[in-house]
Amino acid sequence: MKKRNGKELTTEEINYFIEEYSKGNIPDYQVSALMMAIYFQKMNKRETADLTKAMANSGVTIDLSDIEGVKVDKHSTGGVGDTTTLVLGPIVAATGVPVAKMSGRGLGHTGGTIDKLESFKGFSVEMSREQFVKNVNEKKIAIGGQTADLAPADKKLYALRDVTATVDNISLIASSIMSKKIAAGADAIVLDVKTGSGAFMKKEEDSFELAKEMVDIGNNVGRNTVAIVTDMDQPLGFAVGNALEVKEAIDTLKGEGPEDLTELCLTLGSHMLVLAEPTKTIEEARNMLEDVINSGKGLDKLKELIEAQGGDPSYVDDPSLLPKASIVQPVLATKEGYVKSIKADDIGKAALVLGAGRETKESEIDLSVGIVLHKKIGDYVKEGEAIATIHANSEKKQKEAENIVLKAYNIVTEEVKKNKLIKGIITKDRIERF
Ligand code: URA
Ligand code: CA
Repeated sequence: MKKRNGKELTTEEINYFIEEYSKGNIPDYQVSALMMAIYFQKMNKRETADLTKAMANSGVTIDLSDIEGVKVDKHSTGGVGDTTTLVLGPIVAATGVPVAKMSGRGLGHTGGTIDKLESFKGFSVEMSREQFVKNVNEKKIAIGGQTADLAPADKKLYALRDVTATVDNISLIASSIMSKKIAAGADAIVLDVKTGSGAFMKKEEDSFELAKEMVDIGNNVGRNTVAIVTDMDQPLGFAVGNALEVKEAIDTLKGEGPEDLTELCLTLGSHMLVLAEPTKTIEEARNMLEDVINSGKGLDKLKELIEAQGGDPSYVDDPSLLPKASIVQPVLATKEGYVKSIKADDIGKAALVLGAGRETKESEIDLSVGIVLHKKIGDYVKEGEAIATIHANSEKKQKEAENIVLKAYNIVTEEVKKNKLIKGIITKDRIERF
């Protein structure tokens, strides 16, 4: 009633509601009503920070203090063909900054980082906490699985919001995401907030608002947090699929990757380095990361990571060993012109149809399938030219995906400008827009 009437909830009230809801002492119907009240009446910064803390403390909180150095985590709000972690982890670790990454499998168009890494035969995230810490201290990088008991109150609340039309409130989204990051134990956090057709937030204004809210929460709870708002109006890079994205990550670590993926990794990585304090300026950090790519140290770091976690690192030198699909077919343009837009969501759907992702938690992923785009926004296409290639293991699914990909491309006669990848940067005390 208090929130329905537009009043501010106290810290004690928020803690009480999260604790008792977690224990099952408050029924879903009351919490649904509260979520709807929050949806309409909103929460202020203090309430949002309190909710975040309460959810972060609802389960295990990971202590990374036995890892030397400043632990910087990266989080992306999710998009299509986002291969960043596979590149960013190794290049940041190669500069000496510890990367203690917890990754998920998750639902979606393609698998999560762990699924992708399983393209390397033998790779596993199963290891003791001691081994994880040892690996990060010695090799500067380890990728572990997310424990189920991280912020369980958020899990319960998110599922309830999902079926009560109360997901899209900025405070609730921001506290949900940040509670998990805070429980995971990082000292500092770089957020990649996506915007556009393939993102959770379609409108740029909303993405900036969400980014600002998360940065404020992070800094409010003593975690140095920076957010970058980036374009997701078309898939990132060219590859969408698991093994295909691994190949793309390897190319990028060799300095031969897609321009947008490379730029995004350098941008996010530079901010991670500045937060971890081996450098003072973004320019210096960027130079360090470029050196790591040019010298091959980033690629070596990926091999080291794969080997340390039981995988076969020879795949990095010979990507033809990665899982391969039996059908590889081009998608041919039906008209001439410039690519005006590529519905990222639909490319994701095509990948899902091919079997690259999970529709339910139980689905099996096919690591070999997916789509490789050849044309991105602003590119010129001739009629009959390949705009993409489909990697499939069934002719029926290949045809279905081909139709979706064809429809996802909007080709027009007038010239189209390439779109800007980095839309803005939000730090504790400034918002910069590009
Ligand atoms: N992702 C989350 O983890 N939580 C939300 O509320 C929305 C997106
Ligand atoms: Ca990609």
